[in-house]
Formats: sequence, structure tokens, C-alpha cells
Amino acid sequence: MSGKVKIRLMDGRDIDIVAEMEVQIFPSPWTKKGISDIVLGDSYIKGIIAELDKKIAGYGFYWSAGSETYIANIAVDKKHRRKKIGEKLLRYMLDDGISQNISTAVLEVRKSNMPAIEMYRKFGFVNAGVRKKYYSDNEDAIIMEKYFLEK
Ligand SMILES: CC(C)(COP(=O)(O)OP(=O)(O)OC[C@H]1O[C@@H](n2cnc3c(N)ncnc32)[C@H](O)[C@@H]1OP(=O)(O)O)[C@@H](O)C(=O)NCCC(=O)NCCS
Repeated sequence: MSGKVKIRLMDGRDIDIVAEMEVQIFPSPWTKKGISDIVLGDSYIKGIIAELDKKIAGYGFYWSAGSETYIANIAVDKKHRRKKIGEKLLRYMLDDGISQNISTAVLEVRKSNMPAIEMYRKFGFVNAGVRKKYYSDNEDAIIMEKYFLEK
């Protein structure tokens, strides 16, 4: 039986598994060195883990700068999809940004990535532009933004 999903900050023990998951999930994965620099170095990028039954079921990277939170990456293990884990990771990132008074959250997503686009739409993200041939295989990126009410 599946337990509760816990979101926590990424740490050094997560690097190998996150790097493996990157390779399995993304056509242009972040390298283990890149992930390690973020987690162990003094990076402005934050990494978070979704833990299910004490195992890594998903992760994400994001940062907040000025009035904006940038969602760099959200990934959920194939066997754990559609259990609201992606949503929990995204919620955590947005709440963290809101706590820093952001007015916008922004991200890029592959034009063909329907599951992710649907998730972002559900959270109130809207299309804000296209970056033509943004990915190394020439696929376009859709820019999506979510606007928070001015305080
Ligand atoms: C996108 C991704 C993170 C979603 O994670 P998830 O844990 O499976 O999603 P959730 O269960 O939290 O679903 C949240 C919402 O996303 C949408 N969604 C997720 N998967 C979907 C699918 N296969 N088809 C349609 N909508 C989908 C739905 O709106 C869903 O809400 P609902 O359950 O009320 O319908 C996951 O599919 C994934 O890891 N994909 C590969 C990596 C990736 O592309 N990441 C995004 C990079 S920008």
C-alpha cells in the first residue's frame, strides 16, 4: 500500500538516484555533475524531493529571483505518475515563491508534453509565448506563466 508523499529539500544522498531518473525521463538530461553542483555547491537553484514510502518518487528544481519563480524541472517516476506527486512538487515551489512575494511563476515546456501542460494549466499557468526550436532536437518550447495578484 502507498503511504503519504513528503516533500523535502534535496541533499547529497539523492544525487545518484536523481541523476539516474534524469536519464530515464528526459531526452537531454541534466548531468550528475550539474546536479551535484546544485545540491552541494552554493547555488541559487533549489532542488526538492518527493518521497513516497521513504523512496524517491519525484523531484524538481526551481529558483526565485526578484519577483519571479522559475520552474526549471519537475519529474515523477513512471510507476508513480497520476498520484498527484507532480502537483505536490509544483505546489511546494509556488508556495515557496509566494512566501518571497513573487508576482509571476514562469517555465518552458515542450510543445508535445501534454501531461505537463495540463498540470500547469490546472494551476493557472497560461501560454505566454513560444521559443522556436528551443530544445536540442529542435522541438519548440511553450513559455507558460502564472500571475499572482498584486499585494
Ligand atoms: C508532468 C508530470 C511531472 C506530472 O506528474 P504526476 O505526478 O503524474 O501528475 P499529477 O498526478 O500530480 O497530476 C496533476 C495534473 O496534471 C495533469 N496530468 C498529469 N498527467 C497527465 C496525463 N497523462 N494526461 C493528462 N493530464 C495529466 C492533470 O491535470 C492532473 O490533474 P488531475 O489528476 O486532477 O487530472 C509527469 O508526467 C512527469 O514526470 N513527466 C515527465 C517529466 C516531464 O515532462 N516534466 C515536465 C517538464 S517541464
